[in-house]
Amino acid sequence: MKVQVLVCMVMVGMVAALDNGLARTPPMGWLAWERFRCNIDCENDPHNCISESLLKNMADMMVSEGYRDLGYNVVSLDDCWPAHERDQDGKLQPDPQRFPSGLGALADYMHERGLKFGIYEDYGTLTCGGYPGILGHLETDAQTFADWGVDYVKLDGCNADPKDMDEGYPSFGDYLNKTGRPMVYSCSWPVYQQDSGITPNWTSIIETCNLWRNYNDIQDSWSSVANIINHYGDNQDKIVPNAGPGHWNDPDMLIIGNFGLSYEQSKTQMAIWAVMAAPLLMSVDLRDLREEYKAILQNKALIAVNQDELGIQGRRVYKAGHTEMWTRPITPVHEGNRSYALVVLNQGSDGTPAMVTVKPSSLGLTYPAGYEVVDLYTNVNHGTVLPDGQLTFSVNPSGVVVTKWQVVMP
Ligand code: GLA
Repeated sequence: MKVQVLVCMVMVGMVAALDNGLARTPPMGWLAWERFRCNIDCENDPHNCISESLLKNMADMMVSEGYRDLGYNVVSLDDCWPAHERDQDGKLQPDPQRFPSGLGALADYMHERGLKFGIYEDYGTLTCGGYPGILGHLETDAQTFADWGVDYVKLDGCNADPKDMDEGYPSFGDYLNKTGRPMVYSCSWPVYQQDSGITPNWTSIIETCNLWRNYNDIQDSWSSVANIINHYGDNQDKIVPNAGPGHWNDPDMLIIGNFGLSYEQSKTQMAIWAVMAAPLLMSVDLRDLREEYKAILQNKALIAVNQDELGIQGRRVYKAGHTEMWTRPITPVHEGNRSYALVVLNQGSDGTPAMVTVKPSSLGLTYPAGYEVVDLYTNVNHGTVLPDGQLTFSVNPSGVVVTKWQVVMP
């Protein structure tokens, strides 16, 4: 009897956990932070300050430039949107100068255009930028977000004790659920715990959050992107098993189209993020984006890899010197044999493309009938390659060659 009660409680616990049915594939959208930071100077920089007009501009671009129709459907604020004081009822309120219509109206603007509205808050007393945090107001703030029509909440972890997060993040998740409004829940819980030497409780994180940050903030440079790629590769045995439909690792925003990445490096970020089953959250000025970068962000084949329904995060399966190979199992699957996306990455910087030969069986691609291989950036079809066959690619410095290896159907 006792055992039955316990089993029952465990099951109830699981149902009460996240289970919001959201983010079955990695979220896609636009997020303000990396590109627009905490620019609140609307007087001198009205075009770029964090305001309702910036968010509306981005929403308009998402629709008119075709991002929404490719799956990028969340438009999200980050830090620095609130007023410094709560209102007389203790509720969060946006800065009145920068968001004169209020956030309910901004959410409506998104919804009218088939987009979702994302917001940022912080579990602690203050956000990282020094605006009011949710501590002491969890229930009120969850309800306020629901009342505004928020669809996606990023909850940061500045100005909080990481030890409290094992209780605090699930508690806020419960309040979100209790509002009855489905909201994607993006957590920063593990990264703050790891940084303070606490081993995260992954079981609880997976049950609570739709995605979570587990490493440093991305910055506008290749060294930052490469550092994240290396961290994910070096720690993949701990990181990869946690990902799956409804719960994803978040290596941070796409910075493609900004100032710091070359064309090759931008293709690399998109390819590795696709294979890592990472959220695709663009942080870029969509009003001012060169065509070649837009083409990378809008590459349908890579988006399909990222959004693959198997929901398996890829791995670095080979590394020697500057050469790496990353694979991700994807559909179609034939009699248990999966297709794959393969990224060959050259982390070298010696100026000359590297010639890299791939033998599928040595990467675990052993389907006897072989694979039809297509380059996902150039569309070049390399024909059928058997497991013990080989292909040689020319891979540019800090660049990639990305191919899809599709099981040949009999
Ligand atoms: C932290 C987060 C970033 C961003 C800033 C905002 O550093 O990791 O993604 O939200 O706070 O202040």
